[in-house]
Amino acid sequence: MCGIVGYVGKKPALPILLSGLKRLEYRGYDSYGFCVFNAGQEPFFHKRVGKISGADKELLEMDIQGTIGEAHTRWATTGSVTEANAHPHFDCNKEIFVVHNGIIENYSELKDQLINEGHKFSSETDTEVLAHLIEKFLKEKTEVGEKRKLEEAVAVALKLVKGTYGLLVMAKSEPEKLVAARLSSPLLIGVNDGEYIVASDPIAIAPFASNIVYLEDYEIAVITLGNLSLAKERAPEKMEYESEEAEKGDYENFMLKEIMEEPTAVENAIKGRLIIETGSVKLGGLDSVAEKLREIDNFILIGCGTAHYAARAGEYMLEEYAGIKTDVDVGSEFRYRKPILNDKTAAIFISQSGETADTLACLHELKQKGVLSLGVTNSIGSTQSRETDAGVYTRSGPEIAVASTKAFVGQLATLAMITVYLGRQRTMSLVTGSRIVSELARIPDLARQILLQREKIKALAEKYKGYKNFWYIGRKYNAPVAMEGALKLKEISYLHAEGIPGGELKHGSLALVDKDFPTIAICLSDSVYEKMVSNIQEVKARGGIVIAIATEGNENIKKIVDDVIYIPKTLEMLSPLLSVIPLHLFSYYMAVALGRDVDRPRNLAKSVTVE
Ligand code: F6R
Repeated sequence: MCGIVGYVGKKPALPILLSGLKRLEYRGYDSYGFCVFNAGQEPFFHKRVGKISGADKELLEMDIQGTIGEAHTRWATTGSVTEANAHPHFDCNKEIFVVHNGIIENYSELKDQLINEGHKFSSETDTEVLAHLIEKFLKEKTEVGEKRKLEEAVAVALKLVKGTYGLLVMAKSEPEKLVAARLSSPLLIGVNDGEYIVASDPIAIAPFASNIVYLEDYEIAVITLGNLSLAKERAPEKMEYESEEAEKGDYENFMLKEIMEEPTAVENAIKGRLIIETGSVKLGGLDSVAEKLREIDNFILIGCGTAHYAARAGEYMLEEYAGIKTDVDVGSEFRYRKPILNDKTAAIFISQSGETADTLACLHELKQKGVLSLGVTNSIGSTQSRETDAGVYTRSGPEIAVASTKAFVGQLATLAMITVYLGRQRTMSLVTGSRIVSELARIPDLARQILLQREKIKALAEKYKGYKNFWYIGRKYNAPVAMEGALKLKEISYLHAEGIPGGELKHGSLALVDKDFPTIAICLSDSVYEKMVSNIQEVKARGGIVIAIATEGNENIKKIVDDVIYIPKTLEMLSPLLSVIPLHLFSYYMAVALGRDVDRPRNLAKSVTVE
């Protein structure tokens, strides 16, 4: 969602904050702000509406020498996009400065109370109540008549707050310190030879420090030059993060780079994990729960957006090949259900960031009910990866573009391996296991062949860029891929697209089909081919245009559709790993053709840390 950076060290803070903020901008980008304490002078305080990229020249020309500061890039939740609503927020006298990720749910009542007590507010945000609460408790003496330190005032203030937070606080009265606190919103502290960089995401820390401390829920850290004071003392951990992976390289943008990395994402996911001879997989992250997993007879798969579509494909895999009853839901709805659980239920949480609030809320709920929790997570050290009982990293590398692409294929590959793992614990034969893992090993090369068709897909986007609405249809394993294709088109091109199972068209949606509403049909040579052809014919009979994703060698399809993109043949179960690639490329080129900011689509943010 929003991004936070803080710095305490010997170097001027502003360039470091600026660089961190630019790396975090993919998380939120409607406005930004800085506060730097500038030895003996008034703090440097700067907030603007817009994206930080482009503003760096002006900022770097300012001679700001202060060595302690905080910064924030915002994705608006409470309060519209204005300079006043940008962070840092401050108290009545502009002496306390707060940057915050998360949501203060009871902010309205706290604000009324503070206004009654005489506090003057200058923004519409929930965050601002924190600055005023801290002001109040900093002024107020303790029960034994002592003056509170900043961290103590923060602790008292946070006791009154309902919601989630990752926050940094600075106060003019204690200019040497940065106070950090978290509850359900990530905050990490990079440690480098007496200097500290705090951020909501390792990507902002990676160029500055390779050792890291993960702040825990309810923990408050006090950071001063050369000293990090934590509630629970612990040594920093080595950060497993390759800084260069988060660079764009020669690509025009991250999204194209990440689509082009889809074969590598699969390669990384499967590297060292497939055992073809025994038709099995080695997933070290599940070793500790291997025996428990043998007993499980029903799975719940939870994810949001793209990760939810991966879960849907995973549902087909687990039921068909591992023979395990599987239920799937989006995080934001599952939490309202009263799921039927037993001691043989396990849950798999699927998330690129490992920080999605809706998914984490389900994790917390199911953990409380004693359900075994597994994570399929990309971000190492994320909340999800730390809080699940066991799990498998997808190893897709940092995904920076807001729209998820390579993480999706990483999730699918991981779910396929989990299916083999669980299947082989049950009734899956060596032959079947071997067939799946051998085919998985071929996927990266097959995926590379699809990427060679970039120019053709680009030309198709040019051809179709004038249309405003699109259907995406598919069946069985490819029904979720149709939904993923539609989501991607909506997200980055701002065109209307709907993804539905092919068989559902005739139950109402077909009414919309006409010559201006093209349909993208995933129609592979698999067990649902004939049924998909029928769905295509229903569209054609009503004057609709159809673009098919078909299996190489199927010349007949050309006779019934308007355009075809071919993909290589693979196992039906693994076909989503390939069929999604042309859809990702098509969305990408459509968005480029329409002049959209593909990496940072409007209204969105990466890593949705609010519910
Ligand atoms: C779509 C997209 C989102 C995310 C969703 C879950 O392109 O990026 O739908 O997939 O917000 O995010 P993670 O996987 O981080 O939990």
